[in-house]
Amino acid sequence: MSGAIHLAPGSRVPAWVEAIDRACFGEAWGPLDEYEHIWATYPYGFTRWRIIPEVQEAELLRIGVAVELRRSGHGRRLLRHAQAQLARLKVEVLHLEVRISNSAARSLYESEGWVYRGVRKGYYRDGESAALYSRGD
Ligand SMILES: CC(C)(COP(=O)(O)OP(=O)(O)OC[C@H]1O[C@@H](n2cnc3c(N)ncnc32)[C@H](O)[C@@H]1OP(=O)(O)O)[C@@H](O)C(=O)NCCC(=O)NCCS
Repeated sequence: MSGAIHLAPGSRVPAWVEAIDRACFGEAWGPLDEYEHIWATYPYGFTRWRIIPEVQEAELLRIGVAVELRRSGHGRRLLRHAQAQLARLKVEVLHLEVRISNSAARSLYESEGWVYRGVRKGYYRDGESAALYSRGD
């Protein structure tokens, strides 16, 4: 994917990624810990993942596309790129939780082959439930 950058564990998160993060989620997540990676394309968006080293699996923490650039395929390309990079790291089993009401993201995941695994009731601080998805397992 042309123009994609990789931010390795422990990296500082660039201001433009934080700005998209804030616009999408209300607050930026913060610096990458020792297991977290970001793949991003300027100025479109980013994906943030945490690898679970004991099992060589990963969790999608966030994917966000700049509000004015949505619905042009950037989210799909970012997701595919990150999945391919994780596969190169031998991480093929992937998990995520998403707000049950987030039909845009759920439609993206389902169209990319993620498998719906059920609901985690009241998962978010505001009481909304999470839909659970995985792939590669
Ligand atoms: C979810 C998100 C990343 C999608 O990014 P995007 O660049 O707009 O998505 P794409 O243009 O690549 O669309 C891919 C697919 O996602 C789905 N989709 C995206 N936006 C949608 C919308 N508004 N309504 C319904 N489906 C939508 C569709 O299936 C779409 O495929 P199609 O265009 O062939 O119908 C983006 O909406 C976003 O940043 N949302 C806010 C952050 C968020 O909720 N992230 C997910 C939870 S971590």
